[in-house]
Amino acid sequence: MATTVEAATGTTVVPFAVTEISPEAREAAARVLASGWVTTGPEVAEFEREFAAWIGAQHAVAVSSCTAAIELSLRALRLPAGARVLTSTMTFCGAIHAIIHAGLTPVLVDVNPETLMPDAFTTAAAVRRSGRAQAMVVLHYAGYPAPVEEMAAAAGVPLDRVVEDAAHALGTRAGDRPVGTISIATCFSFYATKNLAIGEGGMIVTSDPEFADYVRRARLHGMSGDAWKRYLPGASWRYSVDVPGLKANMSDVQAAIGRAQLQHLPRWQERRVDLARRYDYRLADKPGLQTPSWPAHGLHAWHLYVIKVKPAFGMARDQFIRNLAERGIHCSVHFIPVHQQPYFRRVLGSDIIGHFPAADSVFEEIVSLPLYPALSDASMERVCQVIAELANLSPAGRGERRESRSAIL
Ligand SMILES: Cc1ncc(COP(=O)(O)O)c(C=O)c1O
Repeated sequence: MATTVEAATGTTVVPFAVTEISPEAREAAARVLASGWVTTGPEVAEFEREFAAWIGAQHAVAVSSCTAAIELSLRALRLPAGARVLTSTMTFCGAIHAIIHAGLTPVLVDVNPETLMPDAFTTAAAVRRSGRAQAMVVLHYAGYPAPVEEMAAAAGVPLDRVVEDAAHALGTRAGDRPVGTISIATCFSFYATKNLAIGEGGMIVTSDPEFADYVRRARLHGMSGDAWKRYLPGASWRYSVDVPGLKANMSDVQAAIGRAQLQHLPRWQERRVDLARRYDYRLADKPGLQTPSWPAHGLHAWHLYVIKVKPAFGMARDQFIRNLAERGIHCSVHFIPVHQQPYFRRVLGSDIIGHFPAADSVFEEIVSLPLYPALSDASMERVCQVIAELANLSPAGRGERRESRSAIL
């Protein structure tokens, strides 16, 4: 697959993300489309079984998105309306909408500036500020393993009220435990840019059979049996609605793509780690650029490679991104802190203002560089070469040249 294209200007373009749909996935989608059954059915059941085995969890329930997975998981906790749920302010807006749509109240937590996600210290500070919470949504930012147990202990929230947002963390291990085996529920995303891309889709993984049963019903209107089961020979058309439900099921077309993509995941993960190492190496000597940290224990899934453009680089983050874009390199920023978004400011009230100094400060510096298995060595080199050119343009780079020259003289 071409990952760089020659733009009209003749510059090499490196997109921020490229979705790789394997030949096997294309064939699987065509097979399901020709089968006469395209909505939730046998492919979904097989994908759930294979995914649970891949993680090492007991149950997996396929849904339409990670956002729906988080909402369904929170609903399954059956908390009182308005109950407080701790979560990072440096997360995707969908994860906050999920809390609100589950009828609960998000309580935002500041981040550790090193890992860009909350830790036990910032979690305890949020509890001191806003009072005890009944549940938590723990994000594994960029694929770095979050200290789930320490954060839960700091918040006084038991692990059976912790939902993990593992949208970035397929393949992450916290110590020797795969993400998906720690708390009551872990939610994955199969959005187009994610480590296992289907286009859209999500998965809830749990080892609790009752929890699995609840979300399985709630994902499809709260009905006791999906259409596939009702239409099997000898099955009854009757169903009952026992719990409130969403329309958040996964189709067999998506599941067939997911099953085929899963076969490629180990190789894709290796490529992500390889690219992260190369970026580290190539960007190590740039003054004012900080590369992301690696966990001391466990495994990073390297969904994102997030650098920080510090003041010492001599170029503001937005200018850095614009300069890269002008040279054909497309980057992104993960994330605009939730408390800076107008809607959430209105919903959460003015008492959130001023409580997230770390998130406000690192937000001004972070840049997500292109990182995906189809990123060629040449494209990665091009990204590093353009960053090196910018480093030489910036005052810090000029200073570095002067210093090294005077060291030689
Ligand atoms: C941290 C995080 N949580 C949740 C989501 C939502 O995933 P989905 O698009 O599958 O709903 C995303 C998507 O980008 C994300 O980055």
